[in-house]
Amino acid sequence: MKKIEVSASILSADFGKVADALKLCEDCGVERIHVDVMDGHFVPNITIGQVVTAAVRKYTKLSVEAHLMIEHPWDYIDSFIDAGADIIGLHVECYGLRRISCREYGQYPKEIDVLDASMFERDMARIKARGREACAVINPGTPVTAIESVIAHAGSFLVMSVNPGFSGQKFIPSAIDKIRFIRSRSQADIGVDGGINLQTAPDVVKAGANVLITASYFFTSKDPAGAVKALKSFA
Ligand code: DX5
Ligand code: ZN
Repeated sequence: MKKIEVSASILSADFGKVADALKLCEDCGVERIHVDVMDGHFVPNITIGQVVTAAVRKYTKLSVEAHLMIEHPWDYIDSFIDAGADIIGLHVECYGLRRISCREYGQYPKEIDVLDASMFERDMARIKARGREACAVINPGTPVTAIESVIAHAGSFLVMSVNPGFSGQKFIPSAIDKIRFIRSRSQADIGVDGGINLQTAPDVVKAGANVLITASYFFTSKDPAGAVKALKSFA
């Protein structure tokens, strides 16, 4: 079984003190910093861009993952790499015809049934060509079978266990079967994002996830080092 890594999403940090939050992550044994990039179009919220990602890069040696919850992510791959991201997370929902329920602006969550694999592979290759890791991200409502053909090509995976847009939401259990499906076909890192805490972590780890993303559970904990240790104890 793979070693568990904890990735702290700074979405729940105090943005007036991001450097302190990064130091806290390092002191608590967190391996990665998860940057939730939202554009108000792919998801109903606007958060962090390249400028803040570059500031994060400047203040931490930890691995930085840019979770791109944005339309037209291909236009921003290079600028997030230039800002210092080590891992670029691309939503598969940006590569394929959207379901009728979410085709218009303002209709969420974005979901697809069929992936445009060649377009998706083209963008993963661009990330790899620049020496970074390409992470395939999938929303709760998109069937995992839609990504089956690209599993062999992805550098890693991020299974969403909430509909993206906000931290502090409740875990959606359908993520567990998705993790199991991917793990039976790949030895790459599988992260799970949304509603991770001591109650939800054991099942996702058992299913094969090895990267636990956490925003609210970590940043609101009275004992953040203990929280990280507890998450890793499920290995
Ligand atoms: C949701 C984000 C998550 C979120 C996790 O759109 O992608 O990374 O910050 O927050 P928690 O851990 O509070 O569910
Ligand atoms: Zn995220």
